[in-house]
Amino acid sequence: MEKTYKIAVVNGDGVGAEIVPAGVSVLDAAADKFGFKLEKEEFPFGAGYYKEHGKFMTDNALETLREFDAIFFGAVGLPEIDDTLPARDYTFKVRTSFQQYINYRPVKLFSGVDSPLRYKTEEDIDFVVIRENNEGEFVQSGKILHAEEPSGVAIDTSIFTRFGIERVAHYSFKLARKRNKKVTNVTKSNTLISSLAYWDQVIAEVAQEYPDVTYEKMYIDNASASFVLRPEIFDVILTTNLFGDILSDLGGAIMGSLGLGGSGNINPEKEFPSMFEPIHGSAPDIAGKNIANPIGQIWSAAIMLEHLGEIEAAKDIMAGIEHTTAKGNLTKDLMGTATTTEVADSVVEFIRATNMVIT
Ligand code: NAI
Ligand code: MG
Repeated sequence: MEKTYKIAVVNGDGVGAEIVPAGVSVLDAAADKFGFKLEKEEFPFGAGYYKEHGKFMTDNALETLREFDAIFFGAVGLPEIDDTLPARDYTFKVRTSFQQYINYRPVKLFSGVDSPLRYKTEEDIDFVVIRENNEGEFVQSGKILHAEEPSGVAIDTSIFTRFGIERVAHYSFKLARKRNKKVTNVTKSNTLISSLAYWDQVIAEVAQEYPDVTYEKMYIDNASASFVLRPEIFDVILTTNLFGDILSDLGGAIMGSLGLGGSGNINPEKEFPSMFEPIHGSAPDIAGKNIANPIGQIWSAAIMLEHLGEIEAAKDIMAGIEHTTAKGNLTKDLMGTATTTEVADSVVEFIRATNMVIT
């Protein structure tokens, strides 16, 4: 019997309405070819939904989403809506409620794409940022007091727990075993001498259980420079929520565009659905023009299929992306002239053209 996966599709806002359908067209082509079924249901959640209903999602949204195998997501946020809300009311809510404590964000240079790093090649730019996705700097436990007074005070507290650090560290070392056997902990424990010193301590303990994996520690300031000057030293980067957020945009930049980065918010135990989205936001400045780069979204589709166990389909999508970029079929952000749909269609055609005929 054909395997069926239930996928919740959340376009979100801005370019989500263009790149998510582009990603879905690729998913459908892969499902046809590799003999599995995707049962999709769309949910209109996001800042657009908030404009009409005063909330980012329905009250029972989490219970509804819980029944799906995965969530295929664009991004949320609109310029006219308070931008403190999208993360609190959608993105972090889903990530934490569903224990998606891994944010898996690969960085690699595709053929046919020029990196802004003049002398770096596809061999040099190929690593993964593992961003702790449930705690750290983004727990939003802060407060603003007396905002309008001379005595105004604002605090945000970072929270790191042994449990939270251990689980993301184990995931990173196990991932490194499948790659080039190196983990770089990106930290700032020389100044954040409580939270990140503890982060380092727990990671160093976990590292001892993986003697076959090289373990290094690097400060975020040096790591930022190293992304640009010597990206070849990285394999698996293990870092905190805030640092991982920033570094993954830098990762997108050295690949050539933010629009290229795919990601997974992963619950490795599969007790809850995981959520797959490009690394960028809703890009309202280019929305509605059919010029957004859909590759980050399509890559997220591949990461989703890999998570669901459809490894061959995931590989085929990646081959389709490489084929498309190698041909110079690029959107405006990469100095090309192709539209969002043309890029997605090219990946779909690649998948179909290499179809196996089963008789
Ligand atoms: P952004 O990532 O949306 O855009 C930054 C720049 O990159 C813009 O110039 C944009 O045009 C470009 N860009 C992004 N994706 C692209 C693509 N696929 N193709 C070509 N160019 C692309 O970040 P920004 O402007 O800081 O945020 C916009 C909104 O998105 C805000 O409301 C923000 O809160 C939200 N956001 C939501 C996220 C999520 O839902 N996970 C993540 C990041 C931001
Ligand atoms: Mg970000």
